[in-house]
Amino acid sequence: MLGRELTDRLLFAGPASEDFGKTLAKRLGLPLLSVTVKEFSDTETRFKVEEEVHGTSILLVQSTYPPVDRNYMQLFLAAHHLSQEGAKVHAVIPYLGYARQDKQFMPGEVVSLGVISHLLRTCGVLRVTTVDIHSAVGLALFAMPTYSVSAIPILAQYIKKNMNLSSPVVISPDFGSSKRTEAFATIYGAEHLQFAKERDRVTGEVRIDAGEMNVKGRDVVIVDDMISTGATIRAAAEKLRKAQASKIVVSCVHPLLVEDAYEKLIEAGVDEIIGTNTVPSRVSKVDATEPLASYLRTVAE
Ligand code: R5P
Repeated sequence: MLGRELTDRLLFAGPASEDFGKTLAKRLGLPLLSVTVKEFSDTETRFKVEEEVHGTSILLVQSTYPPVDRNYMQLFLAAHHLSQEGAKVHAVIPYLGYARQDKQFMPGEVVSLGVISHLLRTCGVLRVTTVDIHSAVGLALFAMPTYSVSAIPILAQYIKKNMNLSSPVVISPDFGSSKRTEAFATIYGAEHLQFAKERDRVTGEVRIDAGEMNVKGRDVVIVDDMISTGATIRAAAEKLRKAQASKIVVSCVHPLLVEDAYEKLIEAGVDEIIGTNTVPSRVSKVDATEPLASYLRTVAE
């Protein structure tokens, strides 16, 4: 066992966020906690913490993208052990799984995010930080201080710098994304349009009402917090193609892109997708550790 000072602040890069955690540790100038992780073929995980953690503050970094439940379970196991050993645990969850189930949309539904909050607390987590939580409503379900950092400014800056778009229009595919999209459009210095979305709560089918719009010959950027099945963006892209938009770029914070979502979006006429590395994927080009590190420097433990 390595010995450490009682006042040390350390970072544990969980198995779902190894690269992300290492980059974040470098930005913050923090040492990585030494842990041996073994994932068994039946999907169970064993952690062995290789150093004394009593009296330390630990940033436990673990994103909870699919497989969501396994990644959460690893987070709970690590948090419980570290807090039992006398460390102060601050969970940094770049993509917060279950954040979309932050209320009962239909009678009988479990408010899953409330359960996650309860489990984190039970495992000794004292503080939670995430990136672009699906809705601010979810923050109220957490009993400990919880903060959502936004990666929208760096996404807007990245697209402005790297893509030569002609008189772009920034599109919000639904009401829930309008605040983010407005912020994106302000930073980019572009016009902003909002679509209305309806999702059938039973079949999951998405319908978009684009209303009146004049995007003919103009480039567009659709902004959303996440792409899961791609149904939302596909429906929006189809409307934009019909309206003869020129280039269609999609900017999202969390590119889950489950199954063949990427291919389906390209088929629907999307030219490019730009996401952040809260979820590792082929489109994770923007580094969300930058805004996270800026925030975490302001938090004492
Ligand atoms: C919903 O309100 C979210 O902001 C996203 O638009 C949605 O969750 C994306 O899911 P999918 O890609 O399956 O449409």
